[in-house]
Amino acid sequence: MESKFYITTPIYYVNSHPHIGHAYTTVVADVLRRYHQLFEQPTYFLTGTDEHGQKIAESAKKENCTPQEFVNRISQEFKDLWPHLNIQYDYFVRTTDSHHKAFVQSILKKIYDNGEIYLREYEGLYCVGCERFLDESELIEGKCPDHQKTPEQRQEKNYFFQMSRYQDWLVQSIESNPELIYPTRYRNEVLQFLKFPLQDLCISRPKERLTWGIELPFDSNFVTYVWFDALLNYVSALEHENQYDHFWPHVHHLIGKDILKTHAIYWPCMLHAAGIPIFNHLLVHGHWVSSGSKMSKSVGNVINPLDMKDLVGIDALRYFLIRDMSFGEDSNFTQELVITRYNGELANNIGNLINRSISMCRQHFNQCIPPRGTPEETEQQLYQVFHDGVAQIKNFIEGFQLHRALEVVATLSSHVNKYLDTCAPWNLAKQENSRDRLGTVLYTAVDMSRIVATILLPVMPEKMTSALEAMGISKPSTSWNDLCPGLLVENIQIPAPSPLFPKIKPAEVQPETRQQPQEHSEMVETDSAMITIDEFSKMVLKVGKILSSEKVKKSDKLLHSQVDVGEDKPRSIVSGIALHYQPEEIIGRNVMVVSNLKPAKLRGILSEGMILCTDDGTKLNLVEPPAEVPPGTVIK
Ligand code: ME8
Ligand code: MG
Repeated sequence: MESKFYITTPIYYVNSHPHIGHAYTTVVADVLRRYHQLFEQPTYFLTGTDEHGQKIAESAKKENCTPQEFVNRISQEFKDLWPHLNIQYDYFVRTTDSHHKAFVQSILKKIYDNGEIYLREYEGLYCVGCERFLDESELIEGKCPDHQKTPEQRQEKNYFFQMSRYQDWLVQSIESNPELIYPTRYRNEVLQFLKFPLQDLCISRPKERLTWGIELPFDSNFVTYVWFDALLNYVSALEHENQYDHFWPHVHHLIGKDILKTHAIYWPCMLHAAGIPIFNHLLVHGHWVSSGSKMSKSVGNVINPLDMKDLVGIDALRYFLIRDMSFGEDSNFTQELVITRYNGELANNIGNLINRSISMCRQHFNQCIPPRGTPEETEQQLYQVFHDGVAQIKNFIEGFQLHRALEVVATLSSHVNKYLDTCAPWNLAKQENSRDRLGTVLYTAVDMSRIVATILLPVMPEKMTSALEAMGISKPSTSWNDLCPGLLVENIQIPAPSPLFPKIKPAEVQPETRQQPQEHSEMVETDSAMITIDEFSKMVLKVGKILSSEKVKKSDKLLHSQVDVGEDKPRSIVSGIALHYQPEEIIGRNVMVVSNLKPAKLRGILSEGMILCTDDGTKLNLVEPPAEVPPGTVIK
């Protein structure tokens, strides 16, 4: 592993509002950087916006404002969005920053002075979407495959960078460095492209046609071609922040496959010509696809990341993005997939583990973490599984296979859930002489939950911070070395956990309200949920004592109980709690009963009231009034 970690995202065009595609790349960069911080490496994370060029000049014109006003506004949208997605970059570069412009000019001058830039008349097929001349061979049915448009025939005098002379050097660099472009299939794609002669690169635009750009330092009739300007951001920002000597070339350029050619071909040639060592790594990911095609502004099928925030919350969105895209390949984005992953892995598995292990400690050990006691064979086996899993996870992260790393985390969490089911602490709690064992089991469950939560911190910083707080850990670990068992502090008091990932019923999701602005839909939801004091006072709540309980035949969810609510005879009440409680577990407990509910029949059994539970989406817990309060007492 390299000693330093510098990660970049593409700088995004400001002619489109930020969407899930941009969010994905930026989240991956943020997650990778946070992992490398846990690996205790110096890190640097750069993102920003790409603000010159014809497309942007055109968008500004459409909106009746100057290009500068226009780019200020949209660039700010990107800048404002990132904190909402828990993204923490070090520097936000804009190609309209004066330091960047000066840097681009200095590089141009250097290459020009070396005699590698020349003026010539050129005629060719120009795609405005790509902002470059295309080769005949790149067209599909006469159209640009990325923009579905027929390119324009253009003839003009322009400056060219002698990229063709770097062809052999580039092929050699890629071939001798298998890690330069990852995954391999993109490396192969580039090498395949390089089997054909490389053309010189047109690096200017005449001012008659475009003024919105960086003026060439050696000819004021031209501005710089937008890609020659944009790519240099990765170095100009470091120079500006005095980080160049520290971090270059320990860089990982994270990009989507749409901009492979500019990064794998133009960029190394530009660096080489400027006398700068080439980047260490190019990491190429696939596209989020929706309704069958790449999510993009031009296709009109984009998803706003903040809509997803409404649905599952930001951390769960981050988890989904990382978990559901196998790095390098395309992946489908739908609301259903997000909810399925959320319920299946976050609510049922990881959230459930964390909540139930903390709740049981609180319940049986006076709101404290129990003493660890003496781990037995079962615990040793679990430690081994974790030891191997954690090593595997680190390998996957270092190999940029975050989706596989998360898969292993989910497996580890399942292991602990199974461990709990096998050790059945709820039975140990009932046995005399099992107190030490109960402590060891619950300690181990929380200790392993701590490791799971710490590994997931980079992906879900907010949720995992609160999970760790509920384990009594106010300062989360900053080192990967803390992921070994036994570091959880014993005997400390822990707060009640709040549900991390309440389950979402797909039926609850109403697509129409999700389209509305966030403030609006929140307001509507709150209004309709309000009741008046009069309405509330109609409900009669009483303390009930469960006298007997049994499973309802042919139902895995229902328990049928006889409940004393201080009347002549007990009430018959059917409750949907059988997945959470064994009948014998609840006998003798005080519960809260809604006593004036209209009687109803469930599976043919009369139910005369309702027993109240807390529901965090994963686990139901009986709400228990103090044991000394007699049945029939009114709750107000
Ligand atoms: O190309 N799925 O900017 P851009 C996944 N300014 N990622 C996606 C995506 C999708 N559907 N759509 C976009 C530019 N992206 C240039 C870059 S860099 C020197 C200049 C992400 O706004 C992905 O990272 O078109 C892709 O490469 C990038 O956004 C393109 O952003
Ligand atoms: Mg694009």
